[in-house]
Amino acid sequence: MNTSQATELALFPLTAEVNNRGHLVIGGCDIVDLVKEFGTPLYLFDESTLRHKGREFKDEFCKYHPDTLVIYASKAFLNRALALIFKEEDLGLDVVSGGELSIAHSVDFPLDKVYFHGNNKTPEELNLALDLGVGRIVVDNFYELELLNRLAGERRTSQNILLRLTPGVDPHTHQYTTTGTIESKFGFPLATGQAEEAVNQALSASNLNLLGLHFHLGSPVSEVQPYELAIELVLRFAREMGRKFGFNLSEFDIGGGFAVPYTLDARVPTIDGYASALTGKLNGLVSELGLSRPRLIIEPGRAIVGQAGVALYKVGAIKEIPGIKKYVCVDGGISDNIRPALYGAKYEALVANKALEAKREAVTIAGKLCESGDILVRDASLAVVQPGDIIAIPVCGAYSIPMSSNYNAVPRPAIVTVNEGRARLIRRRETYQDLMSLDLI
Ligand code: LLP
Repeated sequence: MNTSQATELALFPLTAEVNNRGHLVIGGCDIVDLVKEFGTPLYLFDESTLRHKGREFKDEFCKYHPDTLVIYASKAFLNRALALIFKEEDLGLDVVSGGELSIAHSVDFPLDKVYFHGNNKTPEELNLALDLGVGRIVVDNFYELELLNRLAGERRTSQNILLRLTPGVDPHTHQYTTTGTIESKFGFPLATGQAEEAVNQALSASNLNLLGLHFHLGSPVSEVQPYELAIELVLRFAREMGRKFGFNLSEFDIGGGFAVPYTLDARVPTIDGYASALTGKLNGLVSELGLSRPRLIIEPGRAIVGQAGVALYKVGAIKEIPGIKKYVCVDGGISDNIRPALYGAKYEALVANKALEAKREAVTIAGKLCESGDILVRDASLAVVQPGDIIAIPVCGAYSIPMSSNYNAVPRPAIVTVNEGRARLIRRRETYQDLMSLDLI
C-alpha cells in the first residue's frame, strides 16, 4: 500500500486494506465477495475496531482516573449482537428507551451497569426499569422525580439515581444535537435554581437514592473546552450542595459527544486528548474544592461505533448534466442514512472494487429516494464509476441505522460483522413482507 492509499483508508475501520485485486478488504473480508453474498445496501461493522475503541476509552480514561466506568451510548446503534460484544468487553450501557433496555436484557447484559436516560420516560418504561433492576436512572425533570419516587415506593425499593443538569454551556455543534445550553429540553438548569431544588427534593425523596450528577453537552463536541467549563460548573455546584444539604457526589457522569473525523481534513481530539484534558480538570478541581474523588462515568456512542461501520451501496443510474453536475445514484440513501440531509453531515467515499484506481472525477452521490435532498455525498472525488460498481462510505457506524426509515417503502439494509476473514449476518435484510407484516386489512 502506498502513502496516499494509507491516507485514504484512514477513515475506514482499523483492519482496512486493499488486496491485489484492487478491492477494499475489511476484517479480512473482500468487499466485492461480501456484497455478492449479502447484497446491497449493506452495513458492515468491523468487530476488532469496535472492541479496540471500547478498550481505548477504558484504558485512556482509567490511566488518569482509575475509577472510570465507560457506558456505551446505545442510541448510536444497538442490536443484540452488538450488545453481546459490549457485554464481553465489560462496558456499561446508556439506554434511552424501554426498547434499548429490552435489547440489553435479551442478552443478559448486567443491568447494574445500565444507566437509563431520557426526558420523558413513560410510567411503563420506568416500571420496566424497576422490575429489571436497572443500575441507575438518570432523572431529567421534576415530573419524573415525583413519578419515579412513587413507583419505587409501590415496590418498597429504593432506586439509585443521578440528576441530569443543564450546565448552560454551548458545545459549538449542530443546534439539533446541542443539549448543554439553558433552553434545552433536557435536564435541570443550573442557572435558574431548579438544579438546586432538584437536589433538595431528591435527597428528601424516601424511595430514591441520589448518587450523583450528570450532564451531556451535545454531540459531536470537537473541543475539550466546553467539557472543562461544564465540569467546573457542576463540581462547584456539587460542593455548594454538600454545604447546604450534605450531598455527596459519589458519581459524576460527564456524558458522551466525543467526536470522530468523518472526512480526511477533519481534526478532532484523540481519545487520549479528551481523557487527559477532562480528567486533568476533574482531578484538579476535586483537590481544589476538597471533594472526595467521585467515580467518573463517560458515555461515548459515536466514538465507539462510528469508524467501525461502513455503508456499501451498488451504483445504478449515472446522470451527467453537461457542465453542471454528475450524479452517481446508489441503491440506498436517506432511508438508511438521513444524517447528510438532516445535519448537513459530510462523508467521503471510495469505489470499493476500484480501490487502486486514481480518483479522476468529482461526483454527487445521490440516493434512490423521492426527494431532491436525498444526497449522500456532495463532491465526492472518485475513480471513474460505472453501473454495478460498489461505493463504500466510511464512518457510517453511528446513528445511520438507528435513524433509518422505510420511507418510500424501501426495506432496511442487512448488517454484518466482519472479523478475521469471516462475515456474520447480525440483522437480515428487510423484505417486502416485513414491510406489510404489521398492517391489518
Ligand atoms: N449521552 C447522552 C445523554 C446522549 O444524549 C448522547 C447522544 C450520548 C451520550 C452519546 O453521544 P455520542 O458519544 O454518540 O456523540 N443523531 C445525531 C446524534 C444525536 C446524539 C444524541 N445523544 C447524529 O447523527 O449526529
